[in-house]
Amino acid sequence: MSNNFISLNQVTKHYKDPASDVRFQALRGVDLQIKQGSMASIIGPSGAGKSTLLNILGGMVRPSTGTVTIDGFPLHSLSGDELNLFRRKITGFLWQIPSRNLLPNLTALDNVLFAMEVGNFSRQERHSRALELLSQVGLRDRMDHSLGRLSGGEAQRCGLAVALANEPKLLLADEPTGELDSETTMEIISYLQDLNSDLGTTIVVVTHDNRFERMTKQSYNILDGNIAGMRRSLSKERIQDWSGAEREEVGVVNQFGLVRIPNHLREKYNISNYVKFIEDEESGRIYIISADEESD
Ligand SMILES: Nc1ncnc2c1ncn2[C@@H]1O[C@H](COP(=O)(O)OP(=O)(O)O)[C@@H](O)[C@H]1O
Ligand SMILES: [Mg+2]
Repeated sequence: MSNNFISLNQVTKHYKDPASDVRFQALRGVDLQIKQGSMASIIGPSGAGKSTLLNILGGMVRPSTGTVTIDGFPLHSLSGDELNLFRRKITGFLWQIPSRNLLPNLTALDNVLFAMEVGNFSRQERHSRALELLSQVGLRDRMDHSLGRLSGGEAQRCGLAVALANEPKLLLADEPTGELDSETTMEIISYLQDLNSDLGTTIVVVTHDNRFERMTKQSYNILDGNIAGMRRSLSKERIQDWSGAEREEVGVVNQFGLVRIPNHLREKYNISNYVKFIEDEESGRIYIISADEESD
């Protein structure tokens, strides 16, 4: 057993088009380990499998094959009722579109109170907690406004208060800033960073927005249904804004020993089909060199 809070082992997901019976593989064997208290981003283009992956982490979609363990829950083998319990106890969701986070006819306050009805707080606790959450996201003076009267950024902050209503250990966000301008995007990112550092909530954001890369300590790259690599801060300190820290790009080795060579390096060193591994035991290094010319 590893001490990872989130552990995915060779997760695949295929969808079948019921009309044509054509299978589409959205995830192709994802291995992913995330520690408790991390704030990780998973960045990739549209169609890469981001939402599918996030929905699997949230227990909303079952993997076709592979195992998913989160906080000790083996999601791949839970019953529907057990998955519901997992979602209620462990996760909070923040979606791109405010209307998916919030009920449009309710006020900000009532939205947060409503979200708490499935949790464990007593009636009195709920009210004071809702006020506290709305204050934390800077919406205390807007708490009587309904969704239509909130700006995009305010609606997303309210969505965040709703997502946090039941004290989730894991906050999952799908393109949380997709509908927002730059300034509001930075504001939401900074709320997420505060939440991560103040409460230790584990946060996973999937997005196509590259700005998240520098705002999270680890940032995974997802391409064609696979985790293709990772960038991470080299700073050992726990700092909030990773943007100033020096970063490195690392390859991810899966359980079969596969590792992806980034495109820019394949191009630069003329690697297309074959590589050789040259060991240098003295320095403790392995060199990867193109071996294409030698093959036929
Ligand atoms: N419910 C579904 N049924 C069939 N295909 C789907 C379904 N959901 C997603 N897909 C396909 O899987 C691929 C990955 O989708 P998705 O996870 O939404 O990617 P992303 O969030 O990175 O844009 C896409 O090609 C998409 O069309
Ligand atoms: Mg998506």
